[in-house]
Amino acid sequence: MTVLAVFSNKGGVGKTAAAVNLAYLAGQSGVRTLLCDLDSQSSATFYFGVTPELKGSARGFAKGGKTVLRSIQPTAYDNLDILPADISHRNLALAFEELNHSKRRLAQILEPLQERYALLILDCPPTIGLLAENVFMVADRLLTPLVPTTLSFEAQRQLLAFARAEGHKQRQLLAFLSMVDRRKKLHRELAAAAAAEFPHMLAAAIPYSADVERMGLQREPTPVFAPRSQAAQAYHSLWQELASHLWPTRLVA
Ligand SMILES: Nc1ncnc2c1ncn2[C@@H]1O[C@H](COP(=O)(O)OP(=O)(O)OP(=O)(O)O)[C@@H](O)[C@H]1O
Ligand SMILES: [Mg+2]
Repeated sequence: MTVLAVFSNKGGVGKTAAAVNLAYLAGQSGVRTLLCDLDSQSSATFYFGVTPELKGSARGFAKGGKTVLRSIQPTAYDNLDILPADISHRNLALAFEELNHSKRRLAQILEPLQERYALLILDCPPTIGLLAENVFMVADRLLTPLVPTTLSFEAQRQLLAFARAEGHKQRQLLAFLSMVDRRKKLHRELAAAAAAEFPHMLAAAIPYSADVERMGLQREPTPVFAPRSQAAQAYHSLWQELASHLWPTRLVA
């Protein structure tokens, strides 16, 4: 099982949109996938039309075992299940703190899923703290959406420094441009600057698009209701590029 964490210390940059669309595309290409919603806002859970309910709430989740497995729900799509989040997730870091090996809790919770899924996608809340340390411990790759703004770049520098301090290897950190408006000169300039400054920027970039925003109304991934849109094509390119990083020797549709 490969663990991909969609992570940023910055809020509202397109993490959940990417996690949802990539999880859908992964399932469609035959990869048995679980999307694990770690955010108390439950947005990923909402987008799939799944009830935001976690058996045993955050405390039960933190303890791991069968309760967690029982919370998993199917989605309407092939090869894709979801482990929902609910509001109690706001206390997840606190619940981890109360237990032994607090930095390894998430790894222990997810261990029983090894045999069931080929890919686990974590949709993370925008924090740097104990939950992030857990995510860094368990993730094979971190995927960060980078909006072409100066403040996003600053947040990315902080994230890279934090990841280095946590012993995460550079090649495990991937980033892509998110919410790009190519008509804006500043966006074009910052996109070029990102490629020059940050290691492992992926070539695929997600445009600023109403077809991403509409996911909230449709409660479906973009490629389902707007398969030919620029945004859907961009997520498809992102998925293919990502798959070639995750499994260099395997061909993924
Ligand atoms: N490419 C895009 N174009 C236009 N709107 C987008 C795009 N990506 C995301 N959005 C919108 O921006 C908002 C934030 O997106 P999203 O929830 O994916 O970000 P996030 O990083 O997960 O936020 P949070 O940090 O709160 O979890 C949502 O309303 C979403 O519909
Ligand atoms: Mg989110």
